[in-house]
Amino acid sequence: MKLLLGIPGGIAAYKAADLARLLTREGHTVRCVLTEAGSRFITPLTLASLTGEPVFGANPALPEWRPSPTVEHIELARWADLVAIVPATADLLGKTANGLANDLLSTILLATKAPILWAPAMNTQMWAHPAVQGNVARLNGFGQAFIEPAEGLLACGEEGSGKLAEVEAIAEAIRALGALKLPAIQEKTVLVTAGPTREDLDPVRTLTNRSSGSMGVELARALRDAGAKVKLVLGGDLPAPHGVETVRVRSAEEMLRACQAWWPSCDGIFAAAAVADQRPERMAAEKVKKTEGPETLSLIRTPDILATLSASKHPGQWLVGFAAESEHHTDHAQAKLAKKGLDAVLVNDVQAGRGFGAVENTLTPITAEGPLAPLGPHPKDQLARAVVAWWAAQQH
Ligand SMILES: Cc1cc2nc3c(=O)[nH]c(=O)nc-3n(C[C@H](O)[C@H](O)[C@H](O)COP(=O)(O)O)c2cc1C
Repeated sequence: MKLLLGIPGGIAAYKAADLARLLTREGHTVRCVLTEAGSRFITPLTLASLTGEPVFGANPALPEWRPSPTVEHIELARWADLVAIVPATADLLGKTANGLANDLLSTILLATKAPILWAPAMNTQMWAHPAVQGNVARLNGFGQAFIEPAEGLLACGEEGSGKLAEVEAIAEAIRALGALKLPAIQEKTVLVTAGPTREDLDPVRTLTNRSSGSMGVELARALRDAGAKVKLVLGGDLPAPHGVETVRVRSAEEMLRACQAWWPSCDGIFAAAAVADQRPERMAAEKVKKTEGPETLSLIRTPDILATLSASKHPGQWLVGFAAESEHHTDHAQAKLAKKGLDAVLVNDVQAGRGFGAVENTLTPITAEGPLAPLGPHPKDQLARAVVAWWAAQQH
């Protein structure tokens, strides 16, 4: 991705350097544009060294408004796949919301057709001011995206909202906005389940499994990046991805209820959660004492989420399941496909340290036609993108 990183004059400007470094390391081309005030907080030399790209702006040492065969602000506005403003100042928000453009960065902001992401940072009272909030609403109305400032101790010594969002969260929002959209996935509403379920024995003990939830969370991200509206039902403790509507659940029963609430409005589901097959027959209201036993744990079946959703599906809805198998992978997955009325099952070989918690993973898609070429081995983020691309190709 070609990212134009605009850096105005806020105290958090030094964090833009971290962001530039992070995104450059990921393989994106990052070009920084400093406002005059921005160049008082961070030097072009730092940014050029971190990105390996020229830095533009109002500092006399930088190329701006110089006689040139090309019109620089229009060239840069066209060059960018995405423009991110980090940290967005009250000043630049106000200028852009009102169509003012008196330097390179503000001109680019009016001239570009690329998506724009603002990451504001300022004093709490400034951020809360109706004039600033009005400008944010106006820019929102133009289709520009925001990553809200966080709460915390600000450089001015005040505590409250106005702190620049975490660099990783900004990077995440940039990835989400700038990713390549897949037409077969774009505008679709996709339900994703992820993570382990937890079936409680008493208030302190629980039955669970070794799933971390990372495959499902990466799938939610990849679907979001491909342009889907993603609804994530998440067990376990992983953070929810930015821009994904998420509900957190504990047990298989809760996961089913959350899925049922969303399912009628969805085009399909990727069910990547590791759902418990059984749960304790009863949960003790108080912690069971060592002396009380029980010696034997009585288990009952949990509801089958995919089979339940499949039974109530409307025409056009699709279901993709996951199977973690340690033996007879194809037979088990094909049985699952037929029994639950699924469109595909992605088989995860959990033998020999692969699958749960592993860094790299391979998934073999199995459809009514039989097993297809395996996807991977890849790290899970890459694997998730491969799954989404494969599924998009199946839709043609
Ligand atoms: C030390 C210092 C810190 C500042 N921090 C911020 C800030 O965090 N957010 C903000 O909106 N303005 C901040 N300002 C004010 C801006 O620098 C000022 O509005 C400037 O004109 C912004 O210009 P620009 O938007 O063209 O970069 C700060 C000013 C100073 C002197």
